[in-house]
Amino acid sequence: MRSATVVLCAAFALSALVGAEEYQASVYGMQGLKVSCDSEEKLNLVRSYENEPGFDFLRVARDNRVPVEVLVAPDQLQRFKRDLLANAIDFEVFVEDVSKVIDEELALQKRARMNRAGPRGSISLKAFPKYEEIVAYVDALAKSHSEIVEAFSIGKSFEGRDIVGVKISSGGAGSKPSLFIDAGIHAREWIAPSSAVYAIKQLVENATNHHIFDNIDIYVVPVLNPDGYSYTHKSTSTRMWRKTRSVHKSSSCIGVDANRNFEYEWMTVGASSSPCSDIYAGPKAFSEPETAALRDFILGLKSVKVYLTFHSYGQYLLHPWGFTTALPKNEPVLRCAAEKAEAELAKLRGTRYQIGSSTNVLYAAAGGSDDWVMGVAGAELAYTVELPGGIHGFAPPPKEIVPVGRETFEAIKVFASFVDNKV
Ligand code: ARG
Ligand code: ZN
Repeated sequence: MRSATVVLCAAFALSALVGAEEYQASVYGMQGLKVSCDSEEKLNLVRSYENEPGFDFLRVARDNRVPVEVLVAPDQLQRFKRDLLANAIDFEVFVEDVSKVIDEELALQKRARMNRAGPRGSISLKAFPKYEEIVAYVDALAKSHSEIVEAFSIGKSFEGRDIVGVKISSGGAGSKPSLFIDAGIHAREWIAPSSAVYAIKQLVENATNHHIFDNIDIYVVPVLNPDGYSYTHKSTSTRMWRKTRSVHKSSSCIGVDANRNFEYEWMTVGASSSPCSDIYAGPKAFSEPETAALRDFILGLKSVKVYLTFHSYGQYLLHPWGFTTALPKNEPVLRCAAEKAEAELAKLRGTRYQIGSSTNVLYAAAGGSDDWVMGVAGAELAYTVELPGGIHGFAPPPKEIVPVGRETFEAIKVFASFVDNKV
């Protein structure tokens, strides 16, 4: 309690100094609302809240038959609900109190962590792994499977953490076409890093999967935003953090939405120039060490044929572009490969994904890694994979880790065979 007061005073003093608006949405009393708009006008009215502090749009589809899912801070709830009622817009409260859902998830997480001791050098996926555990696992794999695994760091995060990854390869001369996967660019989307780790585990520890990389190289960076990811592991009140943890001179608000920070149509749409916003694009493109590190690493490889970036949630397989409704020239190929991957994934337990361009099925948002990798770095195909989130969105219970990892791996195999010219 005492330290909270101190933090508050410090923030107040700072904002008084620089004159920046300071707003921290509280998860205590925050509600999740599903809002159904039966017309374009109603959808537009709801979307007019998108840039306001205290509103966190989890799911916005351009299609007004799909309900909008939004988290609303306690101090904004009354005003928002009043506006919805006044405009005859239907809504349903699907989370009564976000902090309660987070506490439930954290309790399960804690319990799962207690009984999950495994052999040294392995990683348990009974609970969501911490950043340090992922780093230790990657290092251990590089030692125990040195013929096929190389561990690397693409650079340091703002707070100085290594952004680690593995290259999974059968070796041989020359550079092979590659599949590149990253996860965890958004801190709170825990099912993304866990699915990336699951894939690494399957590819390396299960010998029947080794043929997948006979002719291709696979790179996986499981936690692209390690500062943010670590921050969300701290407490209930930090669990919903999305951005990086960088400090910028011009504001007392922390962090940048790394997925608005790539230099391709940067800041043209669906991004904010306000440092306190959850979709703050940063003071300039590639202002974040994390995005700059990814840029340099991918440009250095020159071999990435398919790029996948794991997010949650929504069950979407999104391809470029995220800044315009216009489609890339290779849209038929993007769609065809995604349809094959989706069909394989769905076979396991019927999970269905919607396929399409980010702008057309979700919303326009420029500066995403997928657009940059395809538009600038020259990958043939790039996708944002919005994994399932369970009923609670960002707080899926740990028992979802393996089933989601398993089905996602089915899709990964299809993209790997595309890299290998087999699709
Ligand atoms: N939910 C993701 C985000 O908001 C979607 C990104 C899709 N890609 C894009 N370039 N807009 O970052
Ligand atoms: Zn995300």
